[in-house]
Amino acid sequence: MEQYVVKGGVPLRGEVSIGGAKNAALGILAAAIMTDETVTIENVPNVRDTRVLLQAIEGIGAKVKYIYNNTVQINGGSISDLNVEYEYIRKIRASYYLLGALLGKYKESNVALPGGCNIGSSPIDQHLKGFKALGAKVNIDHGVVSAKAENLVGGHIYFDVVTVGATINLMMASCMAEGETILENAAKEPHIVDVANFLNAMGANIKGAGTDVIRIKGVNRLHGCTYSIIPDQIEAGTFMMAAARGDIVIKDVIPKHLESITAKLLEMGCKLVEGDDWIRVIAEGEVGSTNVKTLPYPGFPTDMQPQIAVALALAKGSSMVTESIFENRFKYVDELNRMGAKIKVEGNTAYIEGVEKFTSAQLSAPDLRAGAALVIAALAADGISQIDDIEYIQRGYEDFE
Ligand code: EPU
Repeated sequence: MEQYVVKGGVPLRGEVSIGGAKNAALGILAAAIMTDETVTIENVPNVRDTRVLLQAIEGIGAKVKYIYNNTVQINGGSISDLNVEYEYIRKIRASYYLLGALLGKYKESNVALPGGCNIGSSPIDQHLKGFKALGAKVNIDHGVVSAKAENLVGGHIYFDVVTVGATINLMMASCMAEGETILENAAKEPHIVDVANFLNAMGANIKGAGTDVIRIKGVNRLHGCTYSIIPDQIEAGTFMMAAARGDIVIKDVIPKHLESITAKLLEMGCKLVEGDDWIRVIAEGEVGSTNVKTLPYPGFPTDMQPQIAVALALAKGSSMVTESIFENRFKYVDELNRMGAKIKVEGNTAYIEGVEKFTSAQLSAPDLRAGAALVIAALAADGISQIDDIEYIQRGYEDFE
């Protein structure tokens, strides 16, 4: 078992470069199998989740080649198996993207149900409702989801909840369907736009990504392309929260994607300086409290909730953090309280009384983002902390240490 041992108490100062967006990469790597031609994808974060997905893609017969550490070539021309039962695939939520990609290309897919981080139930009813609206028959049997269609025909789909996964999955499933598909109440995250741009670079006809209505006109075939993934908004945001006790220049970012995070840091009294593709966060003295509620983009991301809670637990005054996307995302709070934080969770809100400092502790990462948040906490604590279960953190951060 790998661990991080963190000697804390020294404010972070320096520069860090941000890699490609994990959650865009997962959609894009799956979508890359939808053409028989070779696709080259740059700025792929080399993290556990992308490696597992690539192994699953190889497992069904596609050719996968790392050109450099962060550049991958995929050729889906040799896919021979529409059953994705690779043993690790259940462990990543994004396994569901292979359902949409294979269904869109071959009109059939069978994928072991997604698991992933333990942050709440992972319903996929909206994905399945969408596949059915395109004419597919959907079955769940022994933990495997199967979708099959004689013919995929464009449909009008209204999502009951704003969902990143179903929006991306339906863009993939419908881009070679007959006629036009309209997705309403679509998610608007930067990685939705990135996956749409990638599919369009392969010859798809998708308009409106980034707004809540996406229109997809079916095309006959997709072709190869070279594409570079956008920077990871959450990796950047994680370092921005670490800077709430230091001075960090975060390079290779799109500042526009970070607005909900910069707004909160400004409310907390941090200083921010911004360039075209970098952002510097400076905490001079004590930071102040604020309230946060997680919402779909452009709201404050649920994937940043634990990290900002750590910064607020060390801020002067009382803060409230409300989680409105996943029901089980406060599991790190007990760990923080063991370090001296004063946080009480009631329902989906954490009530935080800021403390001056944390003390070191032996900790365990409960999931990906909460794990990253505990590292930030350990960096701020006096003494040496040990963090176990860091394989969660390695799912989404490349070379975090
Ligand atoms: N939902 C449904 N039905 C569905 C799909 C979703 O009720 O069919 C609900 C979920 O239960 C949740 C809400 O809708 O309450 C939003 O879920 P969404 O589908 O947007 O989440 P996801 O696609 O499963 C992705 C990221 C998560 C990130 C969320 C929200 C990937 C692989 N995962 O999950 O990333 O938290 O969007 O932005 O892209 C992470 O990176 O740490 C992570 C958990």
